[in-house]
This record gives sequence, C-alpha cells and structure tokens, in this order.
Amino acid sequence: MWKSAHHYISNLVTYEPGKPVEELAREMGLAPEQILKLASNENPLGPSPKALQAMRKALERAHYYPDGGGYFLREAIADKHSLARENVVLGNGSNEIIELISHAFLRSGNEVITAQYTFTVYTIIAQLFGAKTVKAKDSDYSHDLKAMLEAITPQTRQIFIANPNNPTGTIITQEQLDFFMSQVPDHVLIVFDEAYYEFQDHPIDVLRYIRENRNVVIMRTFSKAQGLANLRIGYGLAPAPLAEILQKIRQPFNANGIAQAGALAALQDEEHVQATREMTRVGRMYLQEQFAALDMEYVPSHANFVLTRTTDGDATFQALLQRGIIIRAMRSYGLPEWIRVSVGTPDQNERLIAELKKILSVSR
Ligand SMILES: Cc1ncc(COP(=O)(O)O)c(C=O)c1O
Repeated sequence: MWKSAHHYISNLVTYEPGKPVEELAREMGLAPEQILKLASNENPLGPSPKALQAMRKALERAHYYPDGGGYFLREAIADKHSLARENVVLGNGSNEIIELISHAFLRSGNEVITAQYTFTVYTIIAQLFGAKTVKAKDSDYSHDLKAMLEAITPQTRQIFIANPNNPTGTIITQEQLDFFMSQVPDHVLIVFDEAYYEFQDHPIDVLRYIRENRNVVIMRTFSKAQGLANLRIGYGLAPAPLAEILQKIRQPFNANGIAQAGALAALQDEEHVQATREMTRVGRMYLQEQFAALDMEYVPSHANFVLTRTTDGDATFQALLQRGIIIRAMRSYGLPEWIRVSVGTPDQNERLIAELKKILSVSR
C-alpha cells in the first residue's frame, strides 16, 4: 500500500500531540481526575458557561446539518474586528486554515518560510504539498524578521509568523513588523498565526494589512483563551478576494453547528476571557519565578505556556509522567533540552513545581 501512496506522505513526520489524559490514566491505573495535563495550552478554567449553555441548546438540533455558510458566527467575528463577513473563513480548528491556504497556493517545489523554533504543523502541511520549509534562524528564540526577508526566493509562497510564537512565547514589535511588511514582495502570502492573541498585554495591529488589501491571512482560534479546543473551531481573516478562494476549497460543513453555537456565545463572553487572561498572567509569573529560583533557563512568555530548559527534555517528560503530570518535551521542535509547560490554575502550577523540585533533587 505504501508504494502506491504519494511519496510526500511516506517521509512525513506525524504531528505529535500532547498525550491524552485518558491514555495516561489507563496506563497508570489512575482515575483521569488524578492526572494533570499541562501539555496542549488548553484553558484550565474550561469553556465559558455561556458557551456550554448555547451548545446544550444546539445539541437538540444535532439531526440537522449545520449552517455551512456559518452566517451568524462569521457576522459576529467580522463585527468584532470591524470587517465584513466576506473577510471571514471558518475552519475546523485554525489548523484547517493552514491546509486551505496550502491547497490554494502551494505546489511541489515551492518554499515556505518559518521561524527556527515554531509550530511544527506549518512544516508538516508544506510537506504534504511537496513544498520545502526554509527555517530562518531565530534571534534569541524570537522570530528574526530580517532573516526571514533574506530567505525569500522566487519560489517562496508563504511566510508564517506566529505571534505570540509557539513554543517560545515570544512576540514581535509593530516596528519590526511594519518594516517587514514594507519590504516583503507581493507574490508572498504572509500568514499571521494569532492562536495566543488574547494572552498578550499589548497586542500589535495586523488587521491594518487586511484593510490595506495586502496578501495576508490572520488566523485565530477558539481553542485557547475561549477554552473550546475539543470543538475544533477557528477562523481566518483575509481581504475578501483571498477569503473567497479559501471558502471555495473548504468542505461544505467544515465547522459543525455545536461548535458554531459555542463559539458565538464564547465570543460574547468577555468576562470569561478576562478571567482566563488574568489567571494566566499570574500563573505565568509564578512559573517563571520558580524556574529562575531553580536555576532553570526560560524564555519570558507572552502566551499561556512557558518554555524552560532542563538537561534532557525527554527524561523530564518521562519523570513527570510517572508522577501523573503530562507536559511537552521539545525534541520534535528542535529543542531536545527543553520542555514546554502550559499555565494551569494556581494549584496545578504548584503541583508541577513541587514534582519538578523532587525530580531535580535526584538528577542534579
Ligand atoms: C501556534 C498555533 N497555531 C495553531 C494552533 C492550532 O489551533 P487549533 O486548535 O485552532 O487548530 C496551535 C495549537 O496548539 C498553535 O499552537
């Protein structure tokens, strides 16, 4: 079978998601409630109560196909960003938007530019379309936008800028971005991945590039600050002609009705997002202080996770697993000495630090 599968697929490195709670519970003979998962940058407060209520109601209509055009959700998203519905494309998670863009614009032999340490899905999807990923060397674990500009060739079709970036939690400045956008040629599509937008204290403005009709797509998701990762709902914002291309490619019912209802209610629950943001800010500060006290290097984060260095990320991951805690080892991101931990509730963060201290006292 593999012989007849496309050769792009046989060499494909599969995406390694955070280990599911149920899997570790089964392996360790524990109840799922005893497991702490700080591996996938989920919202420990859960979904907004308003979203839960809207989804329960939507379940009663589960026998009907959803509104494939996503009218109400796209209207609400457009409204929030002072754009039109024609600028909004819904995705089965924001990951689907990456795939739609690639379907539209990537061919074999094309190049995609990313940062050195960034979300691995960009490379995986590029490879699916026979395109090569060129990784521009980071400057101190942050995107180096000048290096990204220098990496552009006539084959370049897309540049991914994750802001804040996963797994480093770093951000770019408006000044850096404006310079970058003044230099980038029109044949290159710039994809701003803003999955962690809500966790920043002072977000920069990228919407202006849509208003200016530049060749850009902004991706956002309901998986993080809105706590709806399980529903698989995200969106892309783009100038209308570009959004129209992506609309043509998507499956007719790519965003299910329960997800649309939950997302619509979550969008209107600013209180829940605010509580999430505040808990994240406090938890992130606590984790960073604790890492410093433990002499563990870390990258100051603007998202809901922190990247920190141990001597061996895989070994730390395994040792924490034995203690019922799931985090993420960073080998697949090219950072074998590092781990990434999501910010949890205060109790969860304290449990993580207490177990890390025990592990370090043995290994040091
Ligand atoms: C940078 C980045 N972009 C996109 C995603 C995917 O989000 P979604 O759940 O909307 O597909 C993630 C999820 O971890 C992410 O870290």
